[in-house]
Amino acid sequence: MRPGRIAIDGPAGSGKSTVGEQLARKLGYLYFDTGAMYRAVAWLALQRGIDARNGAALGALAQRADIVIDYPHVEDGRLYTVSAGGQDVTWAIRSATVTRVVSQVSAHPEVRSVLRAQQRALAYQRNGVVMVGRDIGAVVLPDAELKIYLTASLEERARRRYTELQERLGTGDAALPSLSEIMSDIERRDESDKENMQPAHDAIVIMTDNLSVPEVLEVIYGYLEVA
Ligand code: DC
Repeated sequence: MRPGRIAIDGPAGSGKSTVGEQLARKLGYLYFDTGAMYRAVAWLALQRGIDARNGAALGALAQRADIVIDYPHVEDGRLYTVSAGGQDVTWAIRSATVTRVVSQVSAHPEVRSVLRAQQRALAYQRNGVVMVGRDIGAVVLPDAELKIYLTASLEERARRRYTELQERLGTGDAALPSLSEIMSDIERRDESDKENMQPAHDAIVIMTDNLSVPEVLEVIYGYLEVA
């Protein structure tokens, strides 16, 4: 039997987005990155001058944000299209400014309850979904048929993020942060995200330091045959 809902959680740089997207493609499922929703709320808050400490205002903003994540539709390297308030924010939500405030925005229970309800509704509207985030297996979809928790050391996660940015920006780009800057940024985000980042008690935990993406996928396929 094929699981209809697959949850993949893990910290920044654990490889969950790459693995999740490839798994969804292989199964013909929708790939849904819940981090993009928190980023979209953070982006809207920056646009509208809403304080990242104001949970009530951010919760209300999340409620009326009209965030939609769907298949790419545009061929510019994107894995999916994210829109908020009718605007395409797919690339805007990846900016360093958004990354800097998103943990603070996503920590508010008012924001989380709104987005979690939307994530849950979406997972049940679709026939097959790979939902990626921090709290999917434990909170959003506790009944997901397959739950994966990917992890990797801080050093390895920083190296991956650095390589990814290098490929996107080019080695000589002044906007390319140093490896140690990336490491401190990930460490800071781990700290603020940790409260909402626990593996579900029944998640399969995969330590990916010494595994390539195809190797991680192989491990997951092994569980899919029995799920
Ligand atoms: O995975 P990401 O870096 O795009 O996630 C952005 C932020 O959103 C991250 O700081 C943690 C938060 N997040 C969350 O709290 N719960 C989720 N399910 C997904 C992301």
